[in-house]
Amino acid sequence: MKQNCYILGIESSCDDTAAAVINNGVILSNVVATQKIHEEYGGVVPELASRAHQKNIVPVVHQALRKANIDKKDLKAIAFTRGPGLLGSLLVGTSFSKSLSMGLGIPLIDVNHMQAHILAHFIKTEDQTAPSFPFLALTISGGHTQIVKVTNYFEMEIIGETIDDAVGEAFDKSAKILGLPYPGGHLIDKYAQTGNPKAYPFTKPKVGPLDFSFSGLKTAILYFVKRETIKNPNFVKENRADICASIQYTIVDYLMDKLKNAVKETGIKEIAIGGGVSANSGIRKAMIEAESKYGWNTYIPKFEYCTDNAAMIAMVGEMKYKHKMFAENTTVASARMKF
Ligand code: KG4
Ligand code: ZN
Repeated sequence: MKQNCYILGIESSCDDTAAAVINNGVILSNVVATQKIHEEYGGVVPELASRAHQKNIVPVVHQALRKANIDKKDLKAIAFTRGPGLLGSLLVGTSFSKSLSMGLGIPLIDVNHMQAHILAHFIKTEDQTAPSFPFLALTISGGHTQIVKVTNYFEMEIIGETIDDAVGEAFDKSAKILGLPYPGGHLIDKYAQTGNPKAYPFTKPKVGPLDFSFSGLKTAILYFVKRETIKNPNFVKENRADICASIQYTIVDYLMDKLKNAVKETGIKEIAIGGGVSANSGIRKAMIEAESKYGWNTYIPKFEYCTDNAAMIAMVGEMKYKHKMFAENTTVASARMKF
């Protein structure tokens, strides 16, 4: 029988305080405290995020240990998100992890948040298989939009990324223009279900073949809504489903265009997506269709492993633990941490 090897993962890069425990590839607990405070501001307020992390981190870690049915003395290592992300948020997780590893006398392991999103595909679940190397990873969330060529677990290269907003921001800002609460991405998705995706054609932003830009699209949607509202004050209310379906169609089509370009350029047809926007029904459908349409193998992780979570941090922590890739206790949080 394999010896137990419990590793605690801690994630605090943005507005979710999360902790998880892994044991020999099996996630035993995955706890996330999502900060509601930002809703009334229509976006993440960094100062408030750090304060909420301070408040949440101890109870979240306790809960993760309790759900895993272990004591902190059973832990073999502490893995934490060192970056990229909001510095004040990262500092909370980093300082806490350092202190805990020192207190328990066990190794500290630093994890890159973006690598963790990609490696989340290797978390063992009953109904999902992991992509095989090399594969392309499209990470789409409120904070990132990247296409990464993944050659091996720790050999990754960003081959395309957004030059301005992230795709999740494009969804959230569009939702705000339509008067929907923050974060409104899932509401655009909800209303899009009954709308006509071709009702209002929006121009897809033009940048390099593998890069993304969303700020122009947001402005186009803003002016379109303003113009139509002058003609009919109830325009948004009367046409919400069609507007949402058209926005979603444009964004999903744009993401798929970029993936097609990336496949053409690299010859790689193993495609994995991750990040909160992978929850979108339009991108999910497009990815499934791409299997028969273009002969791709596509992979979408379970939703709880798509959004910011600590299971992915614990997972990478375990991989690094096996290779004794430990961090010094002088390590510092890095808002712009590279691969
Ligand atoms: O990964 P995530 O939970 O947090 C980070 O931003 O890192 O992603 C959150 C983003 C938000 O912008 C949210 O509106 C978007 O994912 N989102 C969606 C959907 N569900 C979440 N966007 C479109 N359709 C959805 N169903
Ligand atoms: Zn993230």
